[in-house]
Amino acid sequence: MLSVAGITKSFGGVHALAGADLECSAGEIVGLIGPNGAGKSTLVNVVTGFLKPDAGTVSLNGREIAGFDPQRISDAGIARTFQNLRVFRELSVRQNVEVAFLRCRQLRPEKAMKVDVDALLEEFGLTALAETPAGSLPYGTQRWMEIARAMATAPDILMLDEPAAGLNNEETERLGRTITSVRDRTSAGIVVIDHDLRFINSICARIFVMDQGKQIAVGDPAALWKNPKVVEVYVGPDAAA
Ligand SMILES: Nc1ncnc2c1ncn2[C@@H]1O[C@H](COP(=O)(O)OP(=O)(O)OP(=O)(O)O)[C@@H](O)[C@H]1O
Ligand SMILES: [Mg+2]
Repeated sequence: MLSVAGITKSFGGVHALAGADLECSAGEIVGLIGPNGAGKSTLVNVVTGFLKPDAGTVSLNGREIAGFDPQRISDAGIARTFQNLRVFRELSVRQNVEVAFLRCRQLRPEKAMKVDVDALLEEFGLTALAETPAGSLPYGTQRWMEIARAMATAPDILMLDEPAAGLNNEETERLGRTITSVRDRTSAGIVVIDHDLRFINSICARIFVMDQGKQIAVGDPAALWKNPKVVEVYVGPDAAA
């Protein structure tokens, strides 16, 4: 469904992406992990149109979308959250979610029919906070709202950049359950970037590991952590030897 191949992207002399690949099917939760600076966020930025790739292909349901602008990619069915929050601070929680829903209803009415804003607010534990200005909510709650808003666009693919950052263990577990139930309910493909490996292992059937701008391994959690290349990146060369 989402197929990304051979993406390169340089910033001046920095090769942030050096032939990066990623795949995510409908109904699949895919992990994207790797050390700081591996290129994970840059890859999401390329896939969602916030950066233009130097080379490579991005296809959604067989249609090539590399280089499209962010709105066009969102309208095509890829939603995202950001490593740093982007919420409309003055708008209420409900309005934040509705803005995304109304855009979807305009452009993809058949998809929007499956979205129920009230049910989404409920699913993300936001019902009691629906009329609260988003900017006045605690950081963790804003993160929940950002995901609910992304889901209000009825995406085929949802990309979450560090959704568990700043959440405690209990909140992280609840986030994992919610992501899984959203997948079960909608059959969206979901790509999750996070440094919390326990969280990633618990929700992802397939994990892509990046280092220095490209994929070094891919597999299910059990196989992956036996791969010496992955151990080397995470624990150091001595552990892998
Ligand atoms: N706009 C930019 N201008 C210059 N260099 C950039 C820019 N964005 C990213 N980079 C560089 O590209 C590389 C990949 O960065 P990126 O943010 O994609 O890594 P990441 O895997 O998301 O890391 P983290 O886990 O810390 O979020 C890094 O060396 C980073 O400094
Ligand atoms: Mg990042």
